[in-house]
Amino acid sequence: TIDQKKYLVNGELKEWKGETTAVYSTISSTKEYKPTLLGSIPDLQEAEALDALDGALKAYDKGQGVWPTMHVKDRIECMEVFVKKMKTKREEVVKLLMWEIGKSLPDSQKEFDRTVEYIEDTIEDYKQLDRDAAKFTKHDGVYAHIKRGPLGVVLCLGPYNYPLNETFALLIPAIIMGNTTIFKPAKHGVLLITPLLEAFQTSFPKGVVNVLFGRGRTVAAPIMQTGKVDVLALIGNSKSANALQDQHPKSNRLRLVLGLEAKNPAIILPDADLDLTINECLAGTLSFNGQRCTALKVVYVHEDIRADFNKNFAKKVDELKFGNPWEDGVKLTPLPEPDKAAYIQGLIDDALSKGAKIINKKGGQHFDNYIWPAVLYPVTKEMRVYQEEQFGPIIPIVPFTDIEEPLDDMAESNYGQQVSLFGKDVYALSPLIDTLVNLVCRVNLNSSCQRGPDVYPFTGRKDSAQATLSVHDALRSFSIRTFVAFKDN
Ligand code: G3H
Repeated sequence: TIDQKKYLVNGELKEWKGETTAVYSTISSTKEYKPTLLGSIPDLQEAEALDALDGALKAYDKGQGVWPTMHVKDRIECMEVFVKKMKTKREEVVKLLMWEIGKSLPDSQKEFDRTVEYIEDTIEDYKQLDRDAAKFTKHDGVYAHIKRGPLGVVLCLGPYNYPLNETFALLIPAIIMGNTTIFKPAKHGVLLITPLLEAFQTSFPKGVVNVLFGRGRTVAAPIMQTGKVDVLALIGNSKSANALQDQHPKSNRLRLVLGLEAKNPAIILPDADLDLTINECLAGTLSFNGQRCTALKVVYVHEDIRADFNKNFAKKVDELKFGNPWEDGVKLTPLPEPDKAAYIQGLIDDALSKGAKIINKKGGQHFDNYIWPAVLYPVTKEMRVYQEEQFGPIIPIVPFTDIEEPLDDMAESNYGQQVSLFGKDVYALSPLIDTLVNLVCRVNLNSSCQRGPDVYPFTGRKDSAQATLSVHDALRSFSIRTFVAFKDN
């Protein structure tokens, strides 16, 4: 077990002597099912949280601190030192990703490698940003030297489904742009930050990165209440984002960089290639058990292809392999949230009581903390599984005959991240594609929804996002354009 007692404040790895919170894995290490104790983390309190804020404020020092004024080349060097140290921790972090959140070995390795690549690409993009900033422009006799400057103190919170990658997709651009940061890891996927604490401490000047452990209301809320946070950076749910935003006494001044919920639909047209569509829908709905904001969370299938799709899709779902993350060929793994299976069961019960059926044989079977993905058909608007972001293994199928039906639903939805459109005649589809991009931010043709490649914009309309992430866009989200102007006189 890892009894993590350290936390990072103002360049110091402090030892916590108070209460700790146990961290369990829902994966059993015994034959008889029993969650495994992985270790513990400090249950830090308001005083430690305010120390961290103090560290970040001092390092920023109203824009005069060492970090925001540091030469770009030196800031880059710090980041390069960090990523070099991080690479040596791959094995430890990957192992913890598997145990803490139940992510399969290939996906855990991918999460680590993708994060390293994200940092390296961010460094390159930042160099380009700096080259662009070196140029002067002149309009109407006024010269300007326009660049991008930091925003101040960033409070950063990441999600449990990508506790490394998505947290760092916020933290790294925030740091490199000259902001100072306070970061609290997700509830599941928290111990995996332990191997990286020293790298944070030794790669950056003191106070640039502060790492806290504990509950959001105990550590994040008091920081927000001071009104001294300039940016709230969060990937997770809007309930947490709103609760924190509300704590800030001048929340209208707060910059929000938020990646939130989505209910991405698949729309399957009559001429869609059935095999390709089924494979993409399997990956789209059930990669990491559907615990992705980009997952396909509702499948609209045209009546003409519905019978074939339903039959073959349901069969394929039942052929997936369930097991521990490190086992070969495993696609479905234990759910990290202990009460998730009960929540999914609630969605199933509600749908069944309103007329849907489970169309795959294994659908809804329970074992340990797991529930086998249930393919539900026909799903209607009255059902909870249609309305809620399930974020788990359950697939609602909605039949349609007129394309206006899914389009109307999308227009009414609170979310607007991505859509997958399946159909053969892409030329004929182009007016529909034009409509869809005005409802969401990314249309995936004959492929499932996804965030990557990470150089592409990652954002959403309505309640799905505030700001745009991606290697390129995140540097802009965590900075502001500033310039010095002078006249030709
Ligand atoms: O939880 C949402 C993630 O951003 C999804 O990322 O599409 O790479 O799995 P992904």
